[in-house]
Amino acid sequence: MQNELIARTAAYVKEKFENEYSGHDWFHTLRVFRTATRIAEAEGADVETVQLAALLHDVDDRKLSPETYADKANARSFLFANNVDESRIDEICRIIGEISFAENCVPSTLEGKCVQDADRLDAIGAVGIARAFAYGGNHNRLMYHPDIAPNPNMSREEYVKSNSTTVNHFHEKLFKLTDMMNTDTAKAIAKERDAYMKVFIAEFLDEWEGKK
Ligand code: ADP
Ligand code: NI
Repeated sequence: MQNELIARTAAYVKEKFENEYSGHDWFHTLRVFRTATRIAEAEGADVETVQLAALLHDVDDRKLSPETYADKANARSFLFANNVDESRIDEICRIIGEISFAENCVPSTLEGKCVQDADRLDAIGAVGIARAFAYGGNHNRLMYHPDIAPNPNMSREEYVKSNSTTVNHFHEKLFKLTDMMNTDTAKAIAKERDAYMKVFIAEFLDEWEGKK
């Protein structure tokens, strides 16, 4: 990590997520940081803005920190204490607000698009498969149930309330993410990861049926 502000931000997030195992742990943030940096460099975005937003993207998450979700108080006070300009703080907090999948919104800046793409990429591919099953285990979900069909067209309320299986989650969310990528760089990465997940699910079902 090339500059001091980035290093300090990383240390802040690492400490904050020390006891977090929900799938939004420090290593999720670190992967998003690395992927977002790669996308930002390829797309010609402002790398430092992307890196700060990537590092701080979950510190005011709706689930992890509902009391600061609306005003992004954690990110804001950290950046303020580290002498970041107010307009820059606003820009970073706007990116963080725009990137959540559930909000289904397209970020208004190239930097926001890079961070949203990196966050979504972390839900697919080999890491995405592992995160999905870890999440399912954490929430007492079945891996798979042959009689529970996926519902890929759920409304937001249905999606939030849904208690579906983890294999269904691939159809309900993960296989949709590739088409939702904003940047060409992320689309290319997503295509490879998506193909890998499809092979995995096909193999899983073949084994389940005793075919392999
Ligand atoms: P984010 O906050 O990054 O948009 P979520 O909190 O929705 O993501 O999900 C975090 C991780 O848990 C992702 O990898 C996602 O695929 C996985 N996950 C979320 N919901 C489910 C689910 N119903 N079944 C399996 N995995 C899930
Ligand atoms: Ni995230």
